[in-house]
Amino acid sequence: MDKMVINGGKRLEGEVRISGAKNAALPVLTSALLVGGCSTFHNIPDLLDIKTIKKLLRSLGVRMEGGETLRIDASGITHCEASYDLVRTMRASILVLGPLVARMGEARVSLPGGCAIGARPVNLHIKALQEMGAEVTLKEGYVEAKASRLKGAEIYFDISTVTGTENIMMAATLAEGTTTLKNAAREPEIVNLAEVLNGMGARIHGAGNDVITIEGVERLHPVEATVIPDRIEAGTFLIAAGMTGGDVRLIGCDPLHLDAPIAKLRDAGMRVDAEGKTIRARGAETLRSVDVKTLPYPGFATDLQAQIMALTALADGLSVITETVFENRFMHVSEMVRMGADITIQGTSAIVRGVPKLRGAPVMATDLRASASLILAGLAAEGTTVLSRVYHIDRGYQEIEKKLSALGADIRRVPG
Ligand code: EPZ
Repeated sequence: MDKMVINGGKRLEGEVRISGAKNAALPVLTSALLVGGCSTFHNIPDLLDIKTIKKLLRSLGVRMEGGETLRIDASGITHCEASYDLVRTMRASILVLGPLVARMGEARVSLPGGCAIGARPVNLHIKALQEMGAEVTLKEGYVEAKASRLKGAEIYFDISTVTGTENIMMAATLAEGTTTLKNAAREPEIVNLAEVLNGMGARIHGAGNDVITIEGVERLHPVEATVIPDRIEAGTFLIAAGMTGGDVRLIGCDPLHLDAPIAKLRDAGMRVDAEGKTIRARGAETLRSVDVKTLPYPGFATDLQAQIMALTALADGLSVITETVFENRFMHVSEMVRMGADITIQGTSAIVRGVPKLRGAPVMATDLRASASLILAGLAAEGTTVLSRVYHIDRGYQEIEKKLSALGADIRRVPG
């Protein structure tokens, strides 16, 4: 298994281009299942999770070619089953469930199982499909769903679920009648997906708000569309600039998707200036402590919680970081403590007392965003940090060591 070796203390300076959003590209790619024709999608990031979803779609009979610009054709779906060995490596595979039931009338998708950050059930996805008339059974660890044609329904999500909203929004595009999603998730990735679906001929209104209506149509047609920039990658680089006292320009990002993180980093003393699709971030002499509470969008993203914690580990004073979305998303804490951070967990909050310096150490990645936070800590630490299980970071960050090296970081990948 590859490792990352980081010699800390280098100030990051220069420009970095932000890649397409993993969490937008995944549902956009599965939406192709709804169309018997060839669509073209631009700005697809080169990530492990994208490779995984492409492998899954190919196993269903979907044909595709290309990379950052991808041509994808689901005219000839041959299978409606997403197997456990594929789904267990990536929970987002559940995003084939809605489109398959809508287009093919059936689907057999392995239950994703939990992951490091939590149990992550999909009960709300299943309940909504049942309310749309699907017959859903759970057998041998698989969700089996059948419906000659889904029917429009009024769906209320007990919890605002991102992929739940995406799955049911896709399923509803071909249903008979109108579906209303209430307490829908509002993430920019959902707005991007709705734009793509409407480009295919769907009739979706309200994406980005907590009530979305989808008027079912008979069929959808191919589309050419573009995936939005990755706000979590962008937020990660903003924090890297802050932790190294750097001066970094992010190119090709969307500042409008980063209101909460930008506000928080300004509170911490950073200078963050948005100009069109560019954000300039400058570190502060001394970072100030900040309290953060993760919330569904437009609140502070849970996917940036580990990264902002790394920044507060070096800030002046005490910060309280509260995780409200997932039940077990503090795995990075023990690794940061090994680097000299002063962090104690109390229930759903981490109490972070800033220290003058972090020290490089061998650390282990446990999940995607935890590994990002440990790289950030390594960039700022004195000495050498060796991060193992680097495949976690490759799931969601395109060539992160190349992008960081181009900004002046001393980081290299050591094949394991
Ligand atoms: C999406 O996961 C993202 N993944 C996650 O990003 C992100 O952390 C999360 O949304 C929250 O923003 C993708 O978009 C591919 P949820 P998702 O359903 O949809 C509970 C990353 O690092 N819930 O919004 O799986 C759930 O347990 C990843 O890129 C149910 O109880 O998250 C959680 O506590 C990590 N039942 C809460 O809702 C359900 O049926 C929010 O989860 C569904 C969800």
